[in-house]
Amino acid sequence: MSNVVQQDLLQQLEQLRQEAAAALAQATTAEAIKTWHAEYLGRKGQLTSILRNVGSLPPEERPLVGKVANEVKDYLESALQERQTAIAQAELEAARRAESVDVTLPGRPQNLGKLHITTRTLRETYAIFAAMGFQIYDSPEVETDEYNFQLLNMPPGHPARDMWDTFYTTTPGLILRTHTSPGQIHAMRAYGPEPIRVILPGKVYRYEAVDASHESMFYQVEGLAVGKHITLSDLKGVLLNFAHQMYGEGREARFRKSYFPFTEPSVELDISCVLCDGKGCPVCKYTGWLEIVGAGMVQPRVLENGGYDPSEFSGFAFGMGPERIALMKYGIDDIRYFYSNDMRLLERI
Ligand code: FA5
Repeated sequence: MSNVVQQDLLQQLEQLRQEAAAALAQATTAEAIKTWHAEYLGRKGQLTSILRNVGSLPPEERPLVGKVANEVKDYLESALQERQTAIAQAELEAARRAESVDVTLPGRPQNLGKLHITTRTLRETYAIFAAMGFQIYDSPEVETDEYNFQLLNMPPGHPARDMWDTFYTTTPGLILRTHTSPGQIHAMRAYGPEPIRVILPGKVYRYEAVDASHESMFYQVEGLAVGKHITLSDLKGVLLNFAHQMYGEGREARFRKSYFPFTEPSVELDISCVLCDGKGCPVCKYTGWLEIVGAGMVQPRVLENGGYDPSEFSGFAFGMGPERIALMKYGIDDIRYFYSNDMRLLERI
């Protein structure tokens, strides 16, 4: 009688092996594999429920059933592993196919940036002055009152200070520079007593009533030449050469007498207004001319402050506004466009 039970169990195991193997071949996803495992090999699966009956066999018949059951289990487990590997590979292959790059598709256009007009104007300015032998010298944007004013002949209370509306910091005596001229003192003290030919570019800050030709943060390029026998005609020659290189020979330029406490004599260079062709507009304040450079011969006391003996040395200095220069070069009618983050300006020029 019990032999019949043993036979039956062995048959059930064989049936399970075949059925499970067939079902495994149908499983194509990781999810289906999980269900399959629970159905056949899991704790509540078919194999376990067959084995539960082994206990009812007489002891001598149990080893054979146990052995076959283990074989079926091993067989199914290794079939499972093979299937899992195959499914993983198929999934990988599908993903690879889905993500593959179609090299025949047209490329997406790249948004190419370009240099800001101020940067372009500055670089052009550097190149023009480099050709005339000027090196670039860096000087600080945050300055002391001493460098920005006093060493340039403007002691506290000097009326000329009113020409430069200043941003003061909470540290007494420390300000945002109102012009690049304090760099003249830094350069002279660094190079003296050797001759100097430098330009000093950088940002300057003024508490300014902003309009079409005035910003409160803008750039300046200072120039300084110190040596023996330097004259006003050297200054004029250098600035006219600059204007011709920057604008071409056709644009009119004129010198006007002016006043700066740190130069004597002092001049200003105007360019005839490109926007109105000299007829008058808001940018040139209806004069037909726009001032782009302030300049002059370095005042003897300033030379002394820089460490040079004015009886031996002379020099010229100038300070130009690159944004103003660009207004005239590119025909831009308002300086406020430069730093208002409106892309249309960059796209146009
Ligand atoms: C000065 O700043 C003097 N330090 C220039 C100088 C240097 C004179 C060396 C003598 C020797 P002024 O304030 O004029 O000068 O400014 C010089 C140039 O900066 C002007 O010609 C103009 O091109 C530019 N500039 C002045 N104010 C502004 C402003 N608010 N916005 C834009 N550009 C300006």
